[in-house]
Amino acid sequence: MSRAVQNNVVVGLQWGDEGKGKVVDMLAKRAKHVVRFQGGNNAGHTLVVDGTKRVLHLIPSGILQENTTCIVGNGVVMDPAVMIKELDALAADGIDCTGGRMLLSTEAHVIMPYHRALDGCREEALGGAKIGTTRKGIGPTYEDKVARRGIRVAEFLNVPALRARLESVLPEKNRMLREWYGHEGYEVDQLLAWDHPLAERLAPLATDTVAWLHRALAAKEPILFEGAQGTFLDVDHGTYPFVTSSNTVAGGACAGSGVGPKDIHQVLGIVKAYTTRVGAGPFPTELHCELGETIRAKGHEFGATTGRPRRCGWFDAVLTAHAARLNGATAMALTKLDVLSGLEELRIAHAYAGTETVPTTAEDLEAAQPIYESMPGWTEDITACRTWDSLPASCRAYVERLEQLVGIPATWLSVGPGREEIIERPQG
Ligand code: GDP
Ligand code: IMO
Ligand code: MG
Repeated sequence: MSRAVQNNVVVGLQWGDEGKGKVVDMLAKRAKHVVRFQGGNNAGHTLVVDGTKRVLHLIPSGILQENTTCIVGNGVVMDPAVMIKELDALAADGIDCTGGRMLLSTEAHVIMPYHRALDGCREEALGGAKIGTTRKGIGPTYEDKVARRGIRVAEFLNVPALRARLESVLPEKNRMLREWYGHEGYEVDQLLAWDHPLAERLAPLATDTVAWLHRALAAKEPILFEGAQGTFLDVDHGTYPFVTSSNTVAGGACAGSGVGPKDIHQVLGIVKAYTTRVGAGPFPTELHCELGETIRAKGHEFGATTGRPRRCGWFDAVLTAHAARLNGATAMALTKLDVLSGLEELRIAHAYAGTETVPTTAEDLEAAQPIYESMPGWTEDITACRTWDSLPASCRAYVERLEQLVGIPATWLSVGPGREEIIERPQG
């Protein structure tokens, strides 16, 4: 990545959990501001620094780099209790997020207890057809945002405004919860009592983050935008309806932060060296055999938010190349290469039978027949490699083939979960 570049977007090019947290933590060293622009605590971003593992759900992954201001932007849906829990856990480890290190947009939407309840009730009601959501209330909160009946941070902090809003929205929520789903529902006073201590804690962080970012732009301070989820969970471009409820693609960074496209200089796609997915939905290269379980065990592929086993499969170059285009990705960071060490043969889906185009509906993708090419694996442990040349020849060949198929260079190669376990490839 060129040193002249100022503002980078980091996004997942698969179904999430590509290793965005690790890469953002590393790149944050070169940034001044790190911004989450969509999603909420459905995300689980893992950072491993000096052998200590930490999972962040809401607070940007730049928080461990002292030089940064971390921002939860307007496009995020925010669960106040989760945010406070994360702030407290960081404080317990000596990472103080007060004093301007953490900012929360007054325009971000709040995940209310009834959103979480509705998410759970709806999933239960869907039975075998469930989406497999994280049940954190993400979908119902975005629904209310778009329906213009959401509660923003500014209202959450203002008791009279919150009371008025709750009086207007709760009757409908309660009717749905009680009559449709048999849930006990909520009272206005109960929610105000819940709000009070949380609002008191979050009030000092709440601010006009758009104005903050525009001051940063004027001062040419580098901004890093941290995506959550992945391209095929995008509500427009993903495997609808098995998606999340926000735009996860790089374009979402603008709307979700208030920064215009001309101020985005590079888009780094995070790509796992194989494929995983949590929750329901099509997954053409999924491995249903023992090998899938081997990869899951070796890659510790269990959800960082829900602990669910992640489904594992071969690299899908058809979808990843499409994702690179959808995001305008200029380069990729290829992660978890070390997990493939020891596999005799590696397969890559380079096409789907009978079609030149990328299937766009869940049904078509469900029916897609991947055509695989095969490459030799490598036996060496590569976690200690820090240069391109020190990687085994067949590992380099695998990376080069993925670059060719996806159409962008792999400028970073991650060979372990630790912050230092990464190779930066010289460009040009
Ligand atoms: P995110 O949601 O994209 O931030 O990814 P997650 O944190 O949910 O999942 C990625 C998992 O892989 C985490 O447990 C990371 O610690 C781990 N990880 C990241 N990069 C590497 C890597 O190169 N090798 C290995 N073995 N693990 C990695
Ligand atoms: P990170 O940022 C992987 C999936 C859920 C479900 C679907 C909808 O860690 O990569 P939701 O709760 O968002 O309504 O669930 O999206 N999902 C993720 N899968 N990584 C994530 O985030 C995810 N966030 C949501 O499993 O299939
Ligand atoms: Mg994750």
